[in-house]
Amino acid sequence: SKGSAMVTAVARRRVEQRHVIDATLAPLKLSTAQLEEVKQRMRKQMERGLHKDTHMQATVKMLPTYVRSTPDGTERGDFLALDLGGTNFRVLLVRVRSGKRRGVEMHNKIYPIPEDIMQGSGEELFDHIVQCITDFLEYMGMVGWRLPLGFTFSFPCRQESLDQGILLNWTKGFNASDCEGCDVVTLLRDAIQRKNEFDLDIVAVVNDTVGTMMTCGYEDPKCEVGLIIGTGSNCCYMEEMRNVEILPTENGRMCVNMEWGGFGDDGCLDDLLTSYDDSVDKFSLNPGRQRFEKIMSGMYLGEIVRNVLIDFTRHGLLFRGRISERLKTRGIFETKFLSQIESDRLALLQVRSILHELGLESSCDDAIVVKEVCGVVSRRAAQMCGAGVAAVVEKIRENRGLDHLRMTVGVDGTMYKLHPHFARILQDTVRTLAPRCDVHLLQSEDGSGKGAALITAVACRLGRPIKR
Ligand code: GLC
Repeated sequence: SKGSAMVTAVARRRVEQRHVIDATLAPLKLSTAQLEEVKQRMRKQMERGLHKDTHMQATVKMLPTYVRSTPDGTERGDFLALDLGGTNFRVLLVRVRSGKRRGVEMHNKIYPIPEDIMQGSGEELFDHIVQCITDFLEYMGMVGWRLPLGFTFSFPCRQESLDQGILLNWTKGFNASDCEGCDVVTLLRDAIQRKNEFDLDIVAVVNDTVGTMMTCGYEDPKCEVGLIIGTGSNCCYMEEMRNVEILPTENGRMCVNMEWGGFGDDGCLDDLLTSYDDSVDKFSLNPGRQRFEKIMSGMYLGEIVRNVLIDFTRHGLLFRGRISERLKTRGIFETKFLSQIESDRLALLQVRSILHELGLESSCDDAIVVKEVCGVVSRRAAQMCGAGVAAVVEKIRENRGLDHLRMTVGVDGTMYKLHPHFARILQDTVRTLAPRCDVHLLQSEDGSGKGAALITAVACRLGRPIKR
């Protein structure tokens, strides 16, 4: 009959659509063999970063941090900490106690950084920072105090001592002029001098990964890796000094800031990247750079999803084939929304209302497809991250000549903390790719700020500063 012919036609159309959806999503799905390959390539790039003759060209920079040990619990004192690297700037007062009342107590205030300041002049950026510090000191009634200060500055820095760091290049949402190639401590001191109201005793420049490792290390001495999956992504770990070839010392260990976000910038991941990754990269602030970070972290995942959705719509698979102005808008999918859409507790109707909130009018079928796309993109992110972690823990295991390694990884960042599946997929991937390592992921509470204070405390305990 006519009716059943129509039903068949609808069914056939559905099957066809499924084929197109599957074919489109296929390049975003990685096999274990491919992830194994990612791990191997990461290992290779780590070596390039560590070796003297390849270090300068390496895409995974493996930067020495001058942090030579994790905390031992005897650290103590009051410290100021600054935290710059995400969308906010934070100032913290941190009290570290040793002995019976061992622990860390913090007060902090958050200051948003407007986009025009992130991407304006360096002077404006650092003046803004000093203005926030002034506000904090007044707010806390601490004007005139001169506490040792740790500066968490979460960008690639070349350090020659703990209390200095030359910004190699901005990443994530920052692009302030006249900062690259400069020592950020000098930039901060100059801004303080311009204001001429107070002085600060800057003891340490710290990457957020290092702060996270130290914070978790304070609770768990087996923590010798720090991982961030937030706005950006990066990792650090305790490497043997003898392997850090650009430094003369042979004994002991030093924390190395990998800057793994740059993995792939030489094209070594091109066979695994998709056209969606390419267009996210092309319209970013730093095209061609941070390719690994751009598959994984909060600042970019939503953009990948948006690009896939546009492609689907173009093929008539979504939103009745209509690409709305809203869908064309960059940055609409924040991490927060991805996390919500992927929550298992959510009914389809709620997915639709989230999409509605984003300005996207969806049918039930649309909502199912959108959720599937989000799932595929964030799964790949967690797996890629897992391949990276597997490379790191395997390297540590080999360094120490062990058959089996037990290791805690301190983790921080919104993707890890807020996303409903990221942590589990990450853990599963590490287990598969590094079967001889027993890896415990430890979520850090406020790692970067607390960590900067702990590093400052260690430096003060050891009689700072630690110079080459
Ligand atoms: C970017 C920065 C890196 C930081 C990471 C996480 O990759 O270059 O220094 O650790 O973001 O915030």
